[in-house]
Amino acid sequence: MSELNKIVMKIVSKGKGILAADESTGTMSKRLDSVGVKSTSDSRLSFRETLFSSEGMKNFIGGVILYDETIKQTTSSGVKIPELINKSGAVTGIKVDTGAKDLSGSRSEKITEGLDGLRDRLKEYYTLGARFTKWRAVYSISSSTPSKLSLISNAHALARYASLVQEANMVPIVEPELLMDGNHDIKKCYEVTAEILKICYEQLDLFKIDLSGTILKPNMILPGKDCEKKASTEEIAEMTVNCLKESVPNKVPGIAFLSGGQSELEATKNLNTINKINNTNFIMTFSYGRALQQSALKYWGKNQKDIINTKKIFNHRSKMNNLSVKAEWSEQKESQTAA
Ligand code: 13P
Repeated sequence: MSELNKIVMKIVSKGKGILAADESTGTMSKRLDSVGVKSTSDSRLSFRETLFSSEGMKNFIGGVILYDETIKQTTSSGVKIPELINKSGAVTGIKVDTGAKDLSGSRSEKITEGLDGLRDRLKEYYTLGARFTKWRAVYSISSSTPSKLSLISNAHALARYASLVQEANMVPIVEPELLMDGNHDIKKCYEVTAEILKICYEQLDLFKIDLSGTILKPNMILPGKDCEKKASTEEIAEMTVNCLKESVPNKVPGIAFLSGGQSELEATKNLNTINKINNTNFIMTFSYGRALQQSALKYWGKNQKDIINTKKIFNHRSKMNNLSVKAEWSEQKESQTAA
């Protein structure tokens, strides 16, 4: 087992998943704003520190993705954030892309930036304690997108990123996210996701990426947000598992889904059904941002001094997702523990 594969397994085994707490300052400010909290470096730290020091972290979270600001912060009691994460038994991760910008040549689409100077930034993050990283490419469905230009240039950037990250002895999370926006049906999402993944793995192959030392972070196969024909959980799970089976090389050990705008409950329920029928060798787990933090953030917004109950809400959500990874979640357990 390679060192990189050991890191992957530490993050995704035993029903554990990833807490994506790597919202950029702009995104985090919007989230804090929505619950009536002024966004400052202290308020951002305070909420995140509350989650990172919870029981849920110790039991159910194998890795945390941080933003540049957070990995350099120290808690109110003087503990460095990566130390706090390591103490709970999880691995520290870092978002290293610098965001999705307009793609020259197809301006309605995005290209993820951040390759310039990345080798040096990775050295710094390693020294700060990071052992895995994230880079998100973003695609959307319309009558003319995703274009071939977007498919190839985003996959190429993901592969260049993954290569630099492995060179720096860290695990790259490869995240090609097909957005839920649009009125396309679930079949269209399946086809486009399969194409995105195929081109990504062609590029990763070109760079000779050690796939056993990577984690894939894909979208689930879902109908567009505005699609009239809704899909059942069973349909979503079946199409998701089939699409990944068809498109992802066997050497990839772990797949950690993004929640991408699903509600907390939908994200948990879908993951549970996926694992009920998972007949692949991939470990299928979560790498949720909103679907792990939403309720906790909402409560904390009104009760910033009530650390205990904020933690309880987060513990519950992370436990429910841990049950889903093991295909042991049920509506009954959801309401019993919530109470
Ligand atoms: P969501 O689960 O909120 O989609 O966030 C995951 C993530 O890291 C997106 O890049």
